[in-house]
Amino acid sequence: MKIIKAADYLETLERMRNERHQKYYAMYSSVLGGVVTDPVLMQVPIDDHLVHRGDGVFDTFKCVAHGAYNLEPHLLRLQRSAAAIALIWPGGLDEIRTLTLETLRVAGRSDCSARVILARGPGSFGVSPYESPTPALYIVVYASGIPFMERRPEGADVRRSCVPVKPARFATVKNCNYLPNVMMKKEAVDWGVDFVVGFDQEGFMTEGATENFGVVTRSGALLFPRMKKVLDGTTMQRVMELAAQLVEERILRSVGFGDVTLADVRSACELLVVGTTLNVVCVRSFDGAPVGDGRPGPAGLRLNAMLSDDIRNNSALRTEY
Ligand SMILES: Cc1ncc(COP(=O)(O)O)c(C=O)c1O
Repeated sequence: MKIIKAADYLETLERMRNERHQKYYAMYSSVLGGVVTDPVLMQVPIDDHLVHRGDGVFDTFKCVAHGAYNLEPHLLRLQRSAAAIALIWPGGLDEIRTLTLETLRVAGRSDCSARVILARGPGSFGVSPYESPTPALYIVVYASGIPFMERRPEGADVRRSCVPVKPARFATVKNCNYLPNVMMKKEAVDWGVDFVVGFDQEGFMTEGATENFGVVTRSGALLFPRMKKVLDGTTMQRVMELAAQLVEERILRSVGFGDVTLADVRSACELLVVGTTLNVVCVRSFDGAPVGDGRPGPAGLRLNAMLSDDIRNNSALRTEY
């Protein structure tokens, strides 16, 4: 076994360089007390309970044309998630916001994604959160994915997931313990579809691996599952606000939350997938059968266009950096 000493460490890291690193722009680490821009230096201590217990919370937002979109709802959700697991960043949300914007400036990219991770922090290899004396903050800025409909204008294929739905207490907290979500994504890849969606024990639709789902019913109601059992998606909530315009234009009859059954999905005119990276995705097939006429529907297409415009041009929701 090769023993790597501190003096050899940088040279060892140098050998780790990989093409994927080109997509990693900057990382702030409270453990280091600063920002690194060299991807091989983007490291987390192994005794941070984040690593070996998934003990932490996170949030991810998107930046377009040097503006962070909908930053406040993302930061507030991070704060709520942290509070739900009794994790408090001593500097408060203002310091997290300042450090996030500074990291974005160091990264210097007009279009990118940022993930803010608040971790229990280094302390031990135990499970007790009390063994980590202070939380750790990691902020990473990396290349954004392309919104789904720009890549796949024909729409997405979706199947029902077999992964048990998370209990409400954990589904509503954006915690770093994403194993059920990982297994859902694996299902989607293995089955050759774009997304899978969960149904709870009562038979109601929940959410996808990292996205919310909604339906447009035959009577023209845009319905999203209640936020008691799914993550309170920032995109879903903004899309619901934007959809008010479609109600005025009579493209939709109403917008709201409700219980969505499997039969509702099968008979829906439109099935929509929404999330930060994706924007609004129109689904063309569910469990192998066409949704509506098997083509992207009018509400989904309009909402996607409205959201793209909002991300780029709504100065009230953009934090320039
Ligand atoms: C489980 C889950 N549901 C829904 C979402 C969508 O949330 P948002 O629109 O805020 O990105 C995410 C985002 O990553 C998620 O992880």
